[in-house]
Order: sequence, then structure tokens, then C-alpha cells
Amino acid sequence: MTDTHHLIEKAKQVLITNDRGGYTVPTDKLYPFQWNWDSAITALGWMQIDEPRAWQEIEMLIKGQWPNGMIPHIVFHEEVDTYFPGPSVWGVDLPVKTTSISQPPVLASIVNMMYEASTDKAIATDRALKLLPALMKYHLWWYRDRDPENTGLVVSYHPWESGMDNSPAWDKSLAAVPPATWQYQRKDTDHIDAEERPKAFEYDRFVYLVDFFRQADFDADTLYRTCPYRMYDIGIISILHKATADLIALAEAVLMPAPSNSPNLSRLPADEHINTSAPTSEHPSVLSLALTSELMASLNELKQRYALTQQNIGKLWHVPSNTFQSQDAITQAFSHELTTGTLLPLLAGFGDKTQKQHMQHLLQTWLQLKPYGLSSTHPKSNEFEAKRYWRGPIWVHVNWLIAMGAELQGFEDEAKAIKNSAKALIEQNGYFEYFDCESGVGCGGDTFSWTAAVSLHWLLTQKAEKK
Ligand code: DGY
Repeated sequence: MTDTHHLIEKAKQVLITNDRGGYTVPTDKLYPFQWNWDSAITALGWMQIDEPRAWQEIEMLIKGQWPNGMIPHIVFHEEVDTYFPGPSVWGVDLPVKTTSISQPPVLASIVNMMYEASTDKAIATDRALKLLPALMKYHLWWYRDRDPENTGLVVSYHPWESGMDNSPAWDKSLAAVPPATWQYQRKDTDHIDAEERPKAFEYDRFVYLVDFFRQADFDADTLYRTCPYRMYDIGIISILHKATADLIALAEAVLMPAPSNSPNLSRLPADEHINTSAPTSEHPSVLSLALTSELMASLNELKQRYALTQQNIGKLWHVPSNTFQSQDAITQAFSHELTTGTLLPLLAGFGDKTQKQHMQHLLQTWLQLKPYGLSSTHPKSNEFEAKRYWRGPIWVHVNWLIAMGAELQGFEDEAKAIKNSAKALIEQNGYFEYFDCESGVGCGGDTFSWTAAVSLHWLLTQKAEKK
């Protein structure tokens, strides 16, 4: 058995072990539910094992979608008591229990990749068409609820929403949030060494915000005006921008099949999506005229929002550091921290030629500082810690997104360097949640779904990355 074959089998086994019957937990006990961006990324791994199962992963996630379009950061499909804060703390009164915030919206990009990589286009078209209304509603929720003033920049209300929980990029803004007003019991440190997890100071504020959302009755307008933590998160904004472009491409591919002389027509018979009968839940891909025109209106709105972000992203260019930076939406202060979030604009294609050159230079110099690729926080930061969660360790899924961005911008050498170091990391240390960026030793949860999935999709198969 070759080493690669062995690694592939191990990665597949991680997903199978973490399968809970249609959805995948990130890892046992520490994260025992369905997480939003974890699951989306994990679906790419399932594509290498069982394509219908990959689509099911996304469909299960969508079951948690709120009536307003929000797709939550956790869907609590069943009761498990190894995680805090559970559904009673979040206080969401919906049939499917969820949290009240979202997560980096990589979902539509992943669905587009799944569609493009699928071996059976008829099945993929059907599954993608069924998902399309939910995906569009989700993106419009980001733009309408989180950017009601049409600034082009969506705002985030919780470090958990960023997916980069205790990143130093949030330190100053989080310090302005009051601590939780009640005694709670963390559970993460029952499973993982406290040295690898966020500190109590941060958790007190994470929990305060959860209480705040509940007390505000999750009201969009109240939160937009009064949430004590409001961040223009450059990571979320970049991922959303790229995912909107991918969603537009997906929608155009499945709603507007190419003219009859094009092979694309085989994706969907032209008359299959324009049907005057009402859509049924069994066959939502047979779209009614009304639904089709609603989707076309959504598509137009998404294009306008996309253009608006493109037009206004320059507001987040931080001249002294020559980088795009997150900005506190309350104080207007830039975060002043170099984290991997500041390289995600490459994925979105933000910036002019000179700004992109600055990002390339940053990428090159950052890569030279540690042996296994990009540390989540720049090693020269005063806040850098090699193995504490988002304050320094390497996260393979984020480095994959940045490598994709580098490739999109033509920075092939940097993309290759990120990929080679990630491969060395998983070959030597397995499928951990994240890795000490100095020793390479695995940290956090072991047998972790997104690390296994990204390895299957990116590191262990020869397929060219779809851009
Ligand atoms: C946690 O509980 O650590 C998660 O990151 C929240 O999503």
C-alpha cells in the first residue's frame, strides 16, 4: 500500500467515523453537532467517497436555515451534553434548534465546486437547483440584514461568526464587550488542553454576546444599531464576495442553460426549469414560473450587491500596513493585526495591481518564517502563540483557501509552497483540527473532518483545483 493510498483511506475513515447519519460532526465530543463552514468543507471530502452523500451534507445543513435566510453556525440535530453553549443558552425557538449567528459563508463556493466536479451532471443539476433558493436567500440575508445601509461591507456580530474565535484581530473590540453576568461551565477544556483553547476573558465575552442576541429577540435592526461587537471582518467579507461570484455562476449554469449548440445544454433540458405548475417539495427542481422569476430577481440583486462591495472594499485598505484589515464598525479602528484573514482578499480578487503585489510580498515573507506554511497569526505579532487556537497555529482549511486565492492571482509559487507544507503537515501528524506552527504537532481535536476533507480534495488527489 502506498503512503498516499494509506493517507486517503485514513482520511475517508475520519469522515465515516464522524458521520452522524447524513451530516458530519467536526470531531467527536468537542464539537458534537453540525457546524456551518465545517460541513460545507467536509462535503468536498465526501465527494471523493460518495457524491450523493456529499449533497446530503449540504441539505442537512440547510434544514437549520431561518425564515429570514440565515444559515446558522451550528445546527443542533440531536441532544448531546459534551458541548457548551448548547441550544438552551442560545434560546432559538424554531423547530430545528440552532445558534443565532452564521459563519464564514464558504457554502455557495463549495456547492459550485461540487457541481463542477460531479461525475453525474443530471443528478448534480437537480441537487444544485434544489439548493439554489436557500443559497440565494442566505446571501441576501447577509447583504440585507448585515448591510442595511448599502455600504458594500457586511458586519459581523461575534468572533465565533468569523470562525477565527480568539484571533488577536478581535482583541480590542472584544475587550469593549462586557463579561457574561452568570456563572457558566465551559466544556471544551474537558476535552482539550486549556493552553490550546481561548482564555476565560474571551469566553466571558463570547457568552455575553450570546445572551445579548437572545435578549434582543434576534431583531435585525436592534442588533445592527446596538450590538456591542460589530466588525467589518475582512475574512468574512472576502469569503462572501467570492461565494457570491460562485453563486451567480452556479445560478446562471443551472437556470440558464447554454444555447442548444453548446454541450452545456445536457445539464438541464431547457423546459425543465420553466414549468407553470407549483413546485413540490419532492421536485422543487421543476421550478414554477413564479419561482424562476423570483430567483432571477434575486440574481440581479446579488449582482448589484457584488458590484457595491467591489466599489467600496477600498475602505478596508490600511495604508500604514499595506494590507486589507478588519475594522471595528463602532469605533472605526483598524485591527492592526496580521492574521490569515488579511490574506483572504486574494480569494475575492480585491485590490488593484499594487495592492495585490503588497499581498504577494506579505505572503512570501510570512511563508519563510515557519516550517509548515502560514501561521494563523503573523509570527512577529506580539500576540502570537504557536499552539493557542487562532493565535498562531496552522489551520489547513484556511491555508487551502489562501492557496486558492494565490493561484487565482497568478501567484503559483506561493500557492505551491502552501500546498507542499500542508501536505508535509498531514503526512507527519495526521488529521488534527490545527497544528502547532513551530513543531507541526497536532492540536485541538484529532480525527478532524475538515482537515481530512481538505486533504482528500486538495492534498491527496491529482485533480486540478477548480477556480
Ligand atoms: C467553539 O465552540 O469553540 C467554536 O469555535 C464555536 O463555533
